Amino acid sequence: MGGPLLIERADDRVVAVLNRPEKRNAIDQATIDALHDLCAELEETPRTLILAGSSGVFAAGADIAQLRERRAADALRGINANAFVRIAELPMPVIAAIDGYALGGGAELAYAADIRIGTPSLAMGNPETGLGILAAAGASWRLKEIVGDARAIELLLTGRTVDAEEALRIGLVSAIHEPDRLLPAAHEIADRIARNDRAATIATKRVFRAPRDRHPAVDLEAQAELFESPEKFRRMTEFLERRDRRAERDEARTEP
Ligand code: COA
Repeated sequence: MGGPLLIERADDRVVAVLNRPEKRNAIDQATIDALHDLCAELEETPRTLILAGSSGVFAAGADIAQLRERRAADALRGINANAFVRIAELPMPVIAAIDGYALGGGAELAYAADIRIGTPSLAMGNPETGLGILAAAGASWRLKEIVGDARAIELLLTGRTVDAEEALRIGLVSAIHEPDRLLPAAHEIADRIARNDRAATIATKRVFRAPRDRHPAVDLEAQAELFESPEKFRRMTEFLERRDRRAERDEARTEP
């Protein structure tokens, strides 16, 4: 009940939970539509996004029942690819909290996140070639950015599933937590992000994602803007004054 995506909103973050447990959260058109609606909201009002699965599954892939009926024209529309590009390009960070299966399109949704964390039951992979298709919603470019060319092509050509230990070792996830600690850990990451300056966070994500030939110009332009921001002066002044106060205290303590 409640649609394919359950959304909880707070001032600084949104938690979106994939909610088709009876279909192992297979990503169908309704899920994609809900993800687009969420993206529109987060483009308008940027907040950190936590993406999670339910009932011990992140997402068992694109919905194969719908996929089987799709034809060439549907492939060219990039139904999943475009939604995942939009998620990857959200202004604020995206955190994927992955419990259990993240296969096919489910894995590609997770690759679109900036930060991925998992549980011991994590099982991630792209079995698409076994279904007679390729992983066209991000795996062929994002997976190699995450784990490097050699591992990515091995994973894509074999279609094998990576377990939690391997995912951590190859950097596919940055941490493993017990299932009951997964969402709290994602919130702790969001808490850390929320303590930092919002404009600096948005600029960091945008600059990080800029093409190689735009550096360092893109970095310097963004920095120029931040160097003039009142928040930069406030945060740096606060740091320096704190140090001054500490130095004064230390001096007073050492005076005879
Ligand atoms: N698309 C559509 N339906 C899916 C699905 C998918 N990707 N993955 C699971 N489902 C459905 C099943 O058809 C089944 O539906 P039913 O109860 O109406 O028959 C239901 O979800 C439960 O799946 P089941 O296979 O019984 O669950 P399981 O816990 O035994 O196995 C998986 C879980 C993930 C191992 C297994 O469902 C699977 O291999 N799914 C497909 C994975 C895949 O190839 N993904 C890539 C797609 S691009």
